[in-house]
This record gives sequence, structure tokens and C-alpha cells, in this order.
Amino acid sequence: MAEQPNQPQQMHNINHTNLQNFVQQILIANNTSPAHAEIVSKCLVSADLRGVDTHGSNRIPSYMERIRQNALDPSAIPTIRQVTPAVAQVDAHNGFGFVAAHEGMKLAISMAQTFGIGMVSVKHSNHFGMSAWLVQQALEADMMSLVFTNSSPALPVWGGKEKLMGVSPIACGAPAGEGRPFILDMAPSIAARGKIYKALRRGEKIPTDWALDKDGGRTDDPAEALQGVMLPMGGPKGSALSVMMDVFSGVLSGSAFAGHVTNPYDPSKPADVGHFLVAIKPDLFMTIEEFKGRMDYLYQRVIDSEKMVGVDRIYFPGEIEMITEEKRLAEGIPFATAEIDSLNKEADLTEMKREKSDPQKNGNNVTIELSLTEPPIEEQIKLRGDNEKRNKKKVQKDNKML
Ligand SMILES: NC(=O)c1ccc[n+]([C@@H]2O[C@H](COP(=O)([O-])OP(=O)(O)OC[C@H]3O[C@@H](n4cnc5c(N)ncnc54)[C@H](O)[C@@H]3O)[C@@H](O)[C@H]2O)c1
Repeated sequence: MAEQPNQPQQMHNINHTNLQNFVQQILIANNTSPAHAEIVSKCLVSADLRGVDTHGSNRIPSYMERIRQNALDPSAIPTIRQVTPAVAQVDAHNGFGFVAAHEGMKLAISMAQTFGIGMVSVKHSNHFGMSAWLVQQALEADMMSLVFTNSSPALPVWGGKEKLMGVSPIACGAPAGEGRPFILDMAPSIAARGKIYKALRRGEKIPTDWALDKDGGRTDDPAEALQGVMLPMGGPKGSALSVMMDVFSGVLSGSAFAGHVTNPYDPSKPADVGHFLVAIKPDLFMTIEEFKGRMDYLYQRVIDSEKMVGVDRIYFPGEIEMITEEKRLAEGIPFATAEIDSLNKEADLTEMKREKSDPQKNGNNVTIELSLTEPPIEEQIKLRGDNEKRNKKKVQKDNKML
């Protein structure tokens, strides 16, 4: 029987390696180079693993639609302009935000390794999903980081009623020793807008304090909420943080700002998102061991803090997501039937053959494998060759312009 909208759906666990391979194959079939497909799929599956389901593989159909409508260039290669020894600018050339931001953070880390700090502004980019993956990239290099982006209008400024600012996340992180690292990744709204899209996909209601409908009334219906506005967290403070993301990511970079970024679900035109990335060496003022020891002490003080009534455990920022990741690595990532259908439909659109395991075979767990047979190797080589030629031309043109 077909799923009824607004009815909670059955969930199925998917193995993360299968999922990443599946997503990567779809990207390659849509003219993304294997190297870039690896970055994008890794970031999306990292969000799925951390429980940030709103910004994971379920975004693939909307991203692919943008490619089909020429709103996003999957073969774009970001170009770099070194501005000062510790500052660089990345032009994403309307390619995947994941790829340009990954390149930007790599650069910021390498500058920070030499100069203590590296700052990168990214322009003409696209949605890069969950900001925490960039914080993780910095943590892998033992770096502290700031990760800002702007996004399409969804939030009114304080006192306003029209969508103007984005629900633009603020993220930052710091490495630790024995304890958990610090990873803050938060949207300035009460809830990320992706949570409303997720509720819509899964046929669920939303809390009435998340958004207003188009008439300014409270609603628990995700479809009505998407017609209205998101509500900022902390009143004017959330709204101010969203303006801050636009200043650092939009105004500073030369990308769209002040309500002119395109929604990632709107495939009609380029998004022109801007990002702001900073990597900071943590051992500038003491040894790395001392720094990490102090982080561990902070972690312990936070989690051992006296609990309020009704609270069993206190978590460090980012810790809940890390626990979810450990669980999902072992047990698989839960997807609703409609979400699997929509990913499989995307694979069908790529005309690749895929294998589905028998849903009856293993009970309810890991029964539906999103496994794909690889496109013939000649096809992959041809795709790669076409992309490389196109990119070479583009880089030559861009270098002339810079
Ligand atoms: N790229 C974009 O344009 C865009 C836009 C909006 C949101 N997002 C992404 O959406 C995701 C979700 O954002 P969100 O604001 O809904 O996140 P959230 O409210 O789930 O979490 C925000 C932060 O609070 C921490 N936290 C949550 N509960 C906690 C608890 N009980 N104890 C201690 N710490 C806790 C989390 O670790 C996290 O760092 C983020 O990954 C964000 O990057 C992306």
C-alpha cells in the first residue's frame, strides 16, 4: 500500500559504507569527478552518521535537480587567490559548497600551521550541508576552527515579518586529549529549517514554537511552516547572529547577501552562497599537551556539573552527535521508506543498474541495501576525461579574470 502523507513511516537501517558508495555513484553519474564525489558523499554520510539527518544523503535529489537545471556546476574546480600569507580567497565557481569549503579549510589549516592562524573567504559557492564536518576536518589536523556560512532567506529580522536572513549555522571547534573535542554547530533559529523538510518527508508534525505559517500564526504542520517564516532562537539575539553570518560570509566574500542567496531546493538559478573559515593553532600560547589537558579539564567540569531536576546526564557540545555516530557506525543509519524510495528514484534517473536485497530476508534491519553496480569503467574514464578538459578551460579563463 502506498504511504499516506502525514503518517509516520517505517524506518530501515542502512550501512554507512553502502550509503556512501551509493551516493558517490550517483554523483559520478551526474558529472562529478570521482575525487569530488568522494568529498561530497563523505560529508553527507558524516551528517547521517552524526544524526544530522536534515543535512545528509536525503539532500541528494535536490542537489541533483540543481545540476540537471544547470543551477550548480558539478565539474567546477575551485580557484585560490592568496591575499596575504595568512589570508586566502576561494572562488567556488558555482560548484559544490562541500568541495570549495573543503579546499578552503585545507588552505586555512596549512596557513595556520605556518602562521598560527589561517583565514579563508569563499565566494560563489553552494549549500555545504552540516557545518560540523568542516570543524571535524580542522580537528583531524589538531586545529581550532570557526566555520560560518550564509544561506537563503528563511528568518525575519527582529521585529520584521518577511523572510530576509538565512537560518545560517555558526560552528566552531577545539581539540581535546582524553575527553571529547568541542564541536558547536548550531542554526540561529529555534530549529534548523532542514528539520521541517525532514518532518515533511517523514509525515511528522513539528513543535509549534519552530515557525509561523504565512499568516503569522503558530503551526505544527511542516508544509504550512515552509510557507511562513522560521522563528529565531533567543528573540533578537538569534536574529542578530543570523545578520552576523551574512556580514562575515556574504558581505565580506563578494557573494550574495541581504536576502539574495537562492534556496537549495530552488533549482532555477545559482545560489551564490558565501563561507568564512578560520583555522587556529591551539599551541600558540602554551604547549599542545597543556592546551589539551585544559580542554579535558573543561570537559570534565561541564559533564560533572550538578544536574537540574529531571536531567540524567550533561553533555559537552557535539557529544550527543558523537554518541549517535558511534551507534550508527555499528547499527546502520535509519531511513524512512519514502526517503529510500526517493534515493532509489535518483539512482534510476542516473540509469545505473542497482541491486536491492530482499526486504524479507533479514527482518527489519539492513534489509534494503542502496547498493549500486558501478557504471562500466569505460564510462567512468570518459566522464573523468570530459570533466578534466572542461575544468582546464575554466581554470585558464578564471586565472585570466583574477
Ligand atoms: N548549510 C546551511 O545552510 C545550514 C543551515 C541550517 C542548519 N544547518 C545545519 O543543521 C544542523 C542542525 O542545526 P541545529 O541548530 O538544529 O542543531 P541542534 O539544535 O541539534 O544542536 C546545536 C548545538 O547544540 C548542541 N547540543 C544540542 N543538544 C545538546 C544538549 N542536550 N547538551 C549539550 N549540547 C547540546 C549540539 O551538539 C550542537 O552543537 C547543523 O549541523 C547545521 O550546520 C546547515
